[in-house]
Amino acid sequence: MEIKKLRIIMNGVTGRMGTNQHLERSITAIIEQGGVKVSNDLIIMPEVLLTGRSEYKLKALAEKYGPGAIGKPYEYTTDLQGALDGKYGEFDIFFDASGTLQRADFIERAVKAGLAIYCEKPTAVETAEAVRLAKLVDDAGLKNGVVQDKLWLPGFRKIKMLKELGFFGKILSVRGEFGYWVFTGMDYDQPAQRPSWNYRSEDGGGMMIDMFCHWRYVIDNVFGPVKSLVSWGATDIDERRAEDGTPFPATADDSAYAMFLLEDGTMVQFNSSWCTRVRRDDLLTVQVDGIKGSAVAGLREVKVQSAADTPKPVWNPDIPQPIDFFAGWSDVPNNIEYDNAFKIQWEMFLRHVALDEPWNYTLMEGAKGVQLAELGMQSWKEKRWVDVPELD
Ligand SMILES: NC(=O)c1ccc[n+]([C@@H]2O[C@H](COP(=O)([O-])OP(=O)(O)OC[C@H]3O[C@@H](n4cnc5c(N)ncnc54)[C@H](O)[C@@H]3O)[C@@H](O)[C@H]2O)c1
Repeated sequence: MEIKKLRIIMNGVTGRMGTNQHLERSITAIIEQGGVKVSNDLIIMPEVLLTGRSEYKLKALAEKYGPGAIGKPYEYTTDLQGALDGKYGEFDIFFDASGTLQRADFIERAVKAGLAIYCEKPTAVETAEAVRLAKLVDDAGLKNGVVQDKLWLPGFRKIKMLKELGFFGKILSVRGEFGYWVFTGMDYDQPAQRPSWNYRSEDGGGMMIDMFCHWRYVIDNVFGPVKSLVSWGATDIDERRAEDGTPFPATADDSAYAMFLLEDGTMVQFNSSWCTRVRRDDLLTVQVDGIKGSAVAGLREVKVQSAADTPKPVWNPDIPQPIDFFAGWSDVPNNIEYDNAFKIQWEMFLRHVALDEPWNYTLMEGAKGVQLAELGMQSWKEKRWVDVPELD
């Protein structure tokens, strides 16, 4: 049995995504399960060095997650450049989950070190910059990837399965409702549950730049290529409280409404808001209406109604609604085990780096998400439909 080690610098890992999704639920989980088993003869095993600015936070993470995985704390350092220069041995991959506006500098440094690059989305807040970074890594001949986790949510996997089974027939429209109430931090004993930079455009925040990146790869991969869009954004709440307790003016859009017209004529709508209270099955629900059947996906569960099960409503507001609309749907069974979406993508990237397996989720694909967000902002500001050109 060969164990192929892939050494990874994990940068910005003290943040919300870096700690929860990448360090704990992906890399530590992969090590604890015994690596990525490729065959009876080969296992890919990640080995990590945690990097960031705060020594005590890195130490705490190293001590919390290392012992269960490798029997001792993970290695860590605040000297990222030293790590890139080989001070801590040779590495294969540089991963970044720092803030969006820090990403470019880190990617440039990792390119100079010649490492494969994997990072959180968005790669930048402007298309030109996202494309520049994608070309930089491509021109250097480095393997690279951007997190596109939603593709491996059980909800979207089931929608994809239903589509491939022909359950929908022709798909007519898709309607996504994303969001929940993000506390402002202004009220007594009601702290905010997301980082405050998300609400400051000068720090890379904003609903469109955050969520349209996701909607782009979800739409492209599950429903088809986007041709044009029209959107509207708003800063619904103009004051929030930062982590240090100081109130600040919210400068970024905290809600965004968009219609995406696909090349095949399908209409895909997404409402995204951090100022909405949930009365639906999940924080994200996506309804797909096809001629032969419809489905409503949450993050994990999907409910379906076929043409034959469709009730026949008659408009009559003078009587109580006689149909229980919720009763006419059935659950898509969980016939397989659905692993953490971030972890699945990590395993694919590790296999891509170690074995050269096919990989579609590159920085150039990530740049398409930034492009959709930038065009969304353009549509909003100019109050018009805009086309989505090919990226070059
Ligand atoms: N894939 C997803 O679903 C998803 C969800 C949320 C956020 N994100 C993205 O992940 C990234 C991080 O978001 P978050 O919510 O974890 O934010 P966060 O503020 O919790 O984390 C950012 C981390 O980066 C660190 N950092 C900032 N500047 C740094 C520097 N110069 N050097 C090293 N570390 C630095 C911060 O200390 C912090 O630990 C963002 O780009 C965001 O867009 C992706």
